[in-house]
Amino acid sequence: MAVRVIIGTQWGDEGKGKITDYYAEKADVIVRFQGGNNAGHTIIFQNPATGKTEKFKLHVIPSGILHLGKKAVIGNGVVVDPGKLLEETEGLKEAGYGTDNLYISDRANITMPYHLIIDALEDKMKGKLGAGTTQRGIGPTYTDKAARYGIRFSDILDRGVLKEKLDLIVPYKQKYLKLFDSGESLSKQELFYSMIEYGNKLRNYITDTSKLICNEIKKGKEVLLEGAQGTHLDVDHGIYPYTTSSNTVAGNAATGSGIGPTMIDEVIGVVKAYTTRVGGGPVPTELEDETGNYLLDKGKEYGATTGRARRCGWLDMVMVRYSARVNGLTGIVITKLDVLGGLERLKAAVSYDYNGERIMDFPANMRILAECTPVYKEFPGWPDYSEEQWGEIVREGIGSLPKELKTYVRFISKEINTPIKLLSVGPVRHQTIEVKDGRV
Ligand code: GDP
Ligand code: IMO
Ligand code: MG
Repeated sequence: MAVRVIIGTQWGDEGKGKITDYYAEKADVIVRFQGGNNAGHTIIFQNPATGKTEKFKLHVIPSGILHLGKKAVIGNGVVVDPGKLLEETEGLKEAGYGTDNLYISDRANITMPYHLIIDALEDKMKGKLGAGTTQRGIGPTYTDKAARYGIRFSDILDRGVLKEKLDLIVPYKQKYLKLFDSGESLSKQELFYSMIEYGNKLRNYITDTSKLICNEIKKGKEVLLEGAQGTHLDVDHGIYPYTTSSNTVAGNAATGSGIGPTMIDEVIGVVKAYTTRVGGGPVPTELEDETGNYLLDKGKEYGATTGRARRCGWLDMVMVRYSARVNGLTGIVITKLDVLGGLERLKAAVSYDYNGERIMDFPANMRILAECTPVYKEFPGWPDYSEEQWGEIVREGIGSLPKELKTYVRFISKEINTPIKLLSVGPVRHQTIEVKDGRV
């Protein structure tokens, strides 16, 4: 029995989807606890029934849904665009994956059409201080949740409550939109009927998911809590204001799913073997050169949600050290090690230089961060193996890994004093090596 949290340790897109899907094989319940459809989690696997390779990009549905029979839960801490959720359920059904085991918290907040409009207008208005959001309405939905203007799933099942709330909210939003001179106007009636319709379509999924998860834990079932985004996008711990609007760290896994923190047994941090970033703000180890392009091309670093090219750079252990601390990591998974193959020398930042001062801890001040230059440790690279060669390495296990790769991953683990659980050497489910005792 275990309750395990999977967290991104960097700026998102570390491979959380692949790793959650991998662990989901042995889990009973898989839960999303924060974020919304700003997430893009890619899962690729060989269907044992057909032998065909299947690829899915999930945005708000937990990555465990592709293992039949598991319970997939959208927890209270998630914000959900109901139209987009229905598109996702339809896509899964068309591909032959049922959604009968999907559950949505009656307390989860809904991303309303006006949240999408406000997200675009505000991000543009902020100029250089804008995070370059995914334009999915995430920030405005969480703003309304905190300000208590939110519409929750329980509300769209209750015409009276929904009407009372919209009577208050719509005129206020209308006035707010006027500030931007955008010409956007809202229809209370349209909003009401579309939400009631969503309520009817989603009714069977909506429930008290905290109760469901806690009951499963009591029965000794294995639960996976799937983080979205990454630690450095956390609204408190990330590089504010270039963050998302939720707490992405492990502490929020309890709050966002409605379980007590004492129920969590393990916190697994997913560490991409190099750094990527989508959106604005300083990236100390960014490579705007040939090596950066190499990582972009070979790693196929294009956003799973917006298709934007990700900014690429060397691994930054100042960031990962911070993540190990604020998440209380009990283990790590290192992904995309195959992508680094073929580079003669690798670098990893171990500290920053700020006007001659050595900085070991990730600073809170974005101006200071922008003026930091990384202090690197260098490593020899390993060969650019073919898919077949990686396949052989996976079959033979850790002993067959090149010694340079072992040195690199041992360094990561030692820097944060955290054992390695898995090494990922390709995007497909089986391109994964288990590390039994945490040591390589
Ligand atoms: P997430 O948001 O953390 O789930 O990550 P994304 O799915 O947005 O981005 C990770 C990308 O890397 C996806 O295209 C994955 O299929 C891919 N990926 C995951 N692990 C590996 C790996 O070990 N090697 C390679 N080459 N690709 C990987
Ligand atoms: P996954 O789960 C990478 C980034 C956006 C932007 C900032 C705020 O796939 O790792 P938002 O729309 O949340 O208000 O945008 O956060 N961002 C992500 N970057 N991966 C993600 O999710 C992200 N979700 C949001 O690019 O800079
Ligand atoms: Mg992603």
